[in-house]
Amino acid sequence: MAYSETKVVLGGLAHIPIIIGFFYLIRRQYSFGAMLRNGKNTLSDQIKAAAPAKAAAPAKAAAPAKAAATAKKPHSDVPVNTYKPKAPFVGTVTENYSVLKDGAIGKVQHITFDLSGADPEFKYVEGQSCGILAAGEDAKGKPHRPRLYSIASTRYGDNFSGNTLSLCVRQLQYEKDGETINGVCSTYLCNLSPGDKVKISGPVGKEMLLPEEEDSNIIMLATGTGIAPMRAYLRRMFEPTEIEKHQWNFRGKAWLFMGAPKTANLLYDADFEHYKSKFPENLKYTKAISREQKNTQGGRMYIQDRVLEYAEQIFTMIENPKTHIYLCGLKGMEPGIDEAMTTAASAKGLDWAELRPKLRKEGRWHAETY
Ligand code: FAD
Ligand code: A2P
Repeated sequence: MAYSETKVVLGGLAHIPIIIGFFYLIRRQYSFGAMLRNGKNTLSDQIKAAAPAKAAAPAKAAAPAKAAATAKKPHSDVPVNTYKPKAPFVGTVTENYSVLKDGAIGKVQHITFDLSGADPEFKYVEGQSCGILAAGEDAKGKPHRPRLYSIASTRYGDNFSGNTLSLCVRQLQYEKDGETINGVCSTYLCNLSPGDKVKISGPVGKEMLLPEEEDSNIIMLATGTGIAPMRAYLRRMFEPTEIEKHQWNFRGKAWLFMGAPKTANLLYDADFEHYKSKFPENLKYTKAISREQKNTQGGRMYIQDRVLEYAEQIFTMIENPKTHIYLCGLKGMEPGIDEAMTTAASAKGLDWAELRPKLRKEGRWHAETY
């Protein structure tokens, strides 16, 4: 064999280990992808095994990555911004009633708008919000900027006709220099009468959407009007006419934690109690009534105190990859919830600071506070 031919053969032989190595890596990645698809590893397994998972990460296989890129993104067909604030839809108020009982604090109204005649149609799904443009002008003589409100009805609306939208609005009121200040948009909304015309933009938001799987588990943490999206979820899950209307038959576990200052302030309480009595296997409903109940330290009972009380059950649910958590209402509750989750997680040997971003990345942690 000539010297040049020997060089070619030896060069070819030298590539064999590289080729074998390449096929080995591809094989490893396929089995890793299959493991994820089968969902065999629980959340705590995944977290505890974070180090080996990181080690495997650089060898990303081309085939599973391509498959993920071509798969339809969840909720990609959910409408957003059909009506922009500059060109809003003008809806008509059909009803506006108080959702508080005698002796409650403040003013909270359930307000429904007729959306019929919208072209294009004003379609939305549970968990979205809309913008409201209050009539009148601000101090600079400009139209009021839109305020966002979570939609409290399902896509079929309270009357199941598919062309209404409902909100749950607390009138903002506070004292300043001995004077009572009324919030612009919330006061406008709370004082509307049937027949009034209202500029509505949206729908907006995909943060609070429900998963499509019927066997998902849904943990809901709400304070005050943060109940609005939860009302929509619970109607979708448990309201008989809703169930007849759609093909989504919820079979998972739902657990609502609701925070209110007084029993009279519990919003939609009778509906939720009714759902609980009809579906005791599927719905739990836990209340934190801050000015009537005390936490273990003798302070006001907040939903984070309830989270601590039921930490074991909550984290057992969270370990199931089918569980989603929704948080809505006062911005101020977020640090308290975080603290409670940290304590509850550590009792299970988990680190909430690691777990929370992981749940978020997986699309299982949904928060909208204001
Ligand atoms: P404004 O006239 O805009 O007054 C608000 C301003 O008053 C504040 O920015 C602050 O500067 C000042 N202020 C407020 N409180 C005090 C105080 N104690 N002391 C001094 N100054 C104060 N609200 C609902 O009722 N229901 C909902 O479902 C809902 N969903 C929402 C969803 C999202 C995604 C967001 C972002 C907000 C949501 N809100 C909801 C809140 C809503 O958008 C408005 O912020 C709220 O109604 C107040 O608007 P306003 O026009 O009445 O008040
Ligand atoms: P409180 O006002 O007694 O301190 P609403 O919007 O109807 O007022 O209800 C909000 C509920 O959330 C109330 O029970 C309120 O209690 C409670 N709350 C207030 N601050 C927090 C907080 N930081 N964390 C959790 N809940 C809170």
